[in-house]
Amino acid sequence: MSKTEKLFYVTTPIYYPSAHLHIGHSYTTVLADIINRYKKLDGYETFFLTGSDEHGEKIEKKSKADGITPYEFTTKIIANFKHLWEKLGVEYNKFIRTTDHDHEKAVQKIFSKLYKKGDIYKGHYEGIYCVSCEEFLTESQLNSETSQCLVCQNVPKKVQEETYFFKVSKYSSFLVNYYNSHQGFIEPETTKNEMLNNFIYPGLTDLSVTRTSFSWGIPTIEDSKHIVYVWIDALSNYLTALGYLSDDETLFNKFWNNDNVEILQIIGKEIARFHTIYWPSMLESLGLRQPDKILSHGWILFKDAKMSKSLGNVIDPLVLIDKFGRDVLRFYLGFEIPTDNDGKFSYDLYLESYNTNLANNIGNLSSRVTNMIEKYFEGQLPAIENLDNALIHEIKITVTNFKFYMDKYNVSRAIGKVLLLCQNANRFIEFSKPWELAKNGQQAELQGVLYTLAYAIVVSAFLLQPILIDTSQKIANQFGVDLATLSFDNINDIKNIQFNKKITKGEILFQRLKIEDEITNLNK
Ligand code: ME8
Ligand code: MG
Repeated sequence: MSKTEKLFYVTTPIYYPSAHLHIGHSYTTVLADIINRYKKLDGYETFFLTGSDEHGEKIEKKSKADGITPYEFTTKIIANFKHLWEKLGVEYNKFIRTTDHDHEKAVQKIFSKLYKKGDIYKGHYEGIYCVSCEEFLTESQLNSETSQCLVCQNVPKKVQEETYFFKVSKYSSFLVNYYNSHQGFIEPETTKNEMLNNFIYPGLTDLSVTRTSFSWGIPTIEDSKHIVYVWIDALSNYLTALGYLSDDETLFNKFWNNDNVEILQIIGKEIARFHTIYWPSMLESLGLRQPDKILSHGWILFKDAKMSKSLGNVIDPLVLIDKFGRDVLRFYLGFEIPTDNDGKFSYDLYLESYNTNLANNIGNLSSRVTNMIEKYFEGQLPAIENLDNALIHEIKITVTNFKFYMDKYNVSRAIGKVLLLCQNANRFIEFSKPWELAKNGQQAELQGVLYTLAYAIVVSAFLLQPILIDTSQKIANQFGVDLATLSFDNINDIKNIQFNKKITKGEILFQRLKIEDEITNLNK
């Protein structure tokens, strides 16, 4: 992907404010935040969008049960969304609500555009609908014995109503051609094949895009007893948030209507069909460009099932943040959950990963090196001499590899490269034995060893800034380095690192934990 301007637009799904968010939602949003922070570090001007998907039958029902209006209901819940993102250090540019007036107006205009284009027509729908997923299902999406929805395990209901349809069938060959001519448009490849084999090749059926049996949604201008199907409303958010079809399209022209902006949309795989079939068809019908990539990640499994609101097997991210800090959760999600497969969560795995990677690797390295600089040089790093060339080489390779994987949005592999550097730096301490160099009075060698190690840690802190947002600053502070002076352009030259203070044994970054005790506490 080569773009001449450094512009980047990243989106998460807009989540249903039907219940509190769990670590599955945190995963998508943290991934977006990590990539967005990385892009900024790499000199991009970015726009990061998240929000809430508030209309539809599910929310209408839930609010009725609570005896409040749907808007009161969602307003309460999204306060929690925003609180969670703040706690996690998620720095979005905009939080869109589908109940925002601007959004509602623009959705009506989008519907009219599709209608005038001849891509929407009136008809009658008969079939099954999963209210929890807000999705019309095909037989292949049901458990053949129990008739439960394969994603949420609820039994869908039969629906018969007058409806408007969107002519998705018209876009079949467009989709096939687009997928084939844009390698990597849908990631992973298996998701692309699934879309082709399960939905496109067997023949796309037109999508019902209005409902009349309830009222919590955006009425169409054309026929006001029809409200816009929640997914057409929801998908439009990626455009309306930028001001599409409003009085001010500046942001839209910058971050969407511009071939030079790199657009990444991150979603979970259960909504891949909406984002890789209906969404591209809508964009094509509106005459708009496609995103560069739809990254459809796997699920976080808890006790072998998808962690989900409807199944109730959820972990509250706020509990983990309060107990171990936000960096630990950001690290777990970024490193331990792969994007191209399902990942597991359990307290055991969480704490083991913490001990192995954060306490025993990064934390241990930093504390050993600050200790030795204090002990052998009274906290003052001497001149840049006698550096260890092998480790210096490895540091540079790490920067290159980290960038390579981050540019492919492979956050886990990128983090893995920094962990490897820290491991090797720890090993380098073992075989260079600074304590013996000190005992034998080999000052010059000792200087070189510690200077190189300090460089390795500072580079690690620099690279981990998008992930360990607090710890990277703490490490930099321990070494008296101002991370803001460093960039991908100057980090490869050790002379650009200024150690501006007396280095002392600092606070312990990650205290090693007794896993069994912690789990007992968590289960209380
Ligand atoms: O689908 N593992 O909202 P939603 C990984 N409103 N990711 C998970 C997850 C898990 N166990 N559980 C949830 C909707 N997610 C629509 C979206 S977009 C135009 C409209 C994440 O509240 C993942 O990103 O059901 C998934 O796609 C999303 O939350 C679904 O959130
Ligand atoms: Mg869902």
